[in-house]
Amino acid sequence: MTQSLPSRPNTKRLHIITWGCQMNAYDSARMADVLAPIGYAPTDDVGAADMVILNTCHIRDRAAEKVFSELGRLRVVKEERAAAGRRTILAVAGCVAQAEGEALLARAPFVDIVLGPQTYHRLPEMVARASRAAGVVVDTDFPAEEKFDFLPVPVASGLSAFLTIQEGCDKFCSYCVVPYTRGAEHSRPEAAVLAEARALVAAGAREIVLLGQNVNAWHGLDETGSPSSLGRLIRRLADLPDLWRLRYTTSHPRDMDDSLIVAHAEVAKLMPFLHLPVQSGSDRILAAMNRKHTAADYLRLVERLRRAQPDLALSSDFIVGHPGETRADFAATLALIREVGFAQAYSFKYSPRPGTPAATAQSQISEEEKDARLQELQELLRAQQDAFNRACVGRRARVLFTGPGRHPGQIAGRAPWLQPVHTTGPAALVGREVEVAISAAHPNSLSVDLLSPEQPPEECPPEQASEQEHACA
Ligand code: 5AD
Ligand code: SF4
Repeated sequence: MTQSLPSRPNTKRLHIITWGCQMNAYDSARMADVLAPIGYAPTDDVGAADMVILNTCHIRDRAAEKVFSELGRLRVVKEERAAAGRRTILAVAGCVAQAEGEALLARAPFVDIVLGPQTYHRLPEMVARASRAAGVVVDTDFPAEEKFDFLPVPVASGLSAFLTIQEGCDKFCSYCVVPYTRGAEHSRPEAAVLAEARALVAAGAREIVLLGQNVNAWHGLDETGSPSSLGRLIRRLADLPDLWRLRYTTSHPRDMDDSLIVAHAEVAKLMPFLHLPVQSGSDRILAAMNRKHTAADYLRLVERLRRAQPDLALSSDFIVGHPGETRADFAATLALIREVGFAQAYSFKYSPRPGTPAATAQSQISEEEKDARLQELQELLRAQQDAFNRACVGRRARVLFTGPGRHPGQIAGRAPWLQPVHTTGPAALVGREVEVAISAAHPNSLSVDLLSPEQPPEECPPEQASEQEHACA
């Protein structure tokens, strides 16, 4: 059950710095929600903040180093405020805190609170303890209680809102730290998800992005106590009249079940976009990664998805230079990319994460080789993204305008295939879903023209869409 906490006047200021994925953005918003009733209001000005939270990510690169360098800066801010008689509570949250709690305290003893991703519902209590006594408060448990049960109903969500439905992962890919920092796979019950979705919609959300490290492994219990599925959850959410659009991320190919594929064919509110990481196109490396799928499995899945929804735009994650990756393995990844045709993708150099099996594997790849492979891969992905965006020009689409654009007089939103969209138009269209004609493609966005109400939209016939090389053509 979600708890509503009584409000008190906002007398203190909270500044949150967030690294990493949308799940961390969601967590940061929930931390702000949980601290609001004890008097903390957000500020963009770190110097004015009575409490600063670093919500950290440990998935790649030198995450811990970035945190320590930010902490160095904040130590100065804290000392300057202390000289002026003002206390600053410094908290480190998220996956770096979970993974490096002890090291963190040794190197940054001026930190007041260290908390993992599973305990932020206890923040008010931690703040009270940190305020009472000197010394650090550490809470990096994986508690038995469900943190979501202790969080207040989200209030200010915006037109497009995140909703975490699932956390953690049991897949143990060789390179990945998530199963260790976020813990075992856990799905929120269906009723809790529906209640939060209703609250978000009541607060003005018109698009909900369902989040989870392994979102399509979601199997929350339904009202009869039986495990449900993401396909079914999407149908139930689509029944909410004032909710217009649904998305979900991030999915594992192994968990793409029939109900979800059929939802892409049948649920009009489900946007035609899917982020489905494959990581590599080489079966040898996929096995070394413990991915439990082959390149052919992935290609078959893409074919089924495109049969269900010919307009589907695909996105993926790729890792280059996993231990043992040869030039031939890398060539297989390029071949898979050419075969699928991605609308966009994220790609990374393999980065050893302490405690993961791949970190201690023999045959690590040199940085120079990883750099060269990443550059080649990104050139191909960039060309595919450009081609996809250019193929959108001339099409019509419905766009949910979510705010002002970068330039005066502009409004902005997202296309169904997730590209940022902008046009010159009245601010009154923000919050509305509007039919537009796509007029120009840029590297990372689309320009669109508003269609006058006299011009009814022409539907793109399905057979025309399915003939085209990319989903968005
Ligand atoms: N090195 C490089 N990339 C990684 N990812 C996860 N762990 C690592 C790592 N150790 C990438 C994967 C994943 C994305 C979120 O981050 O591609 O899908
Ligand atoms: Fe990490 Fe995703 Fe693999 Fe889970 S499925 S271990 S989150 S890469």
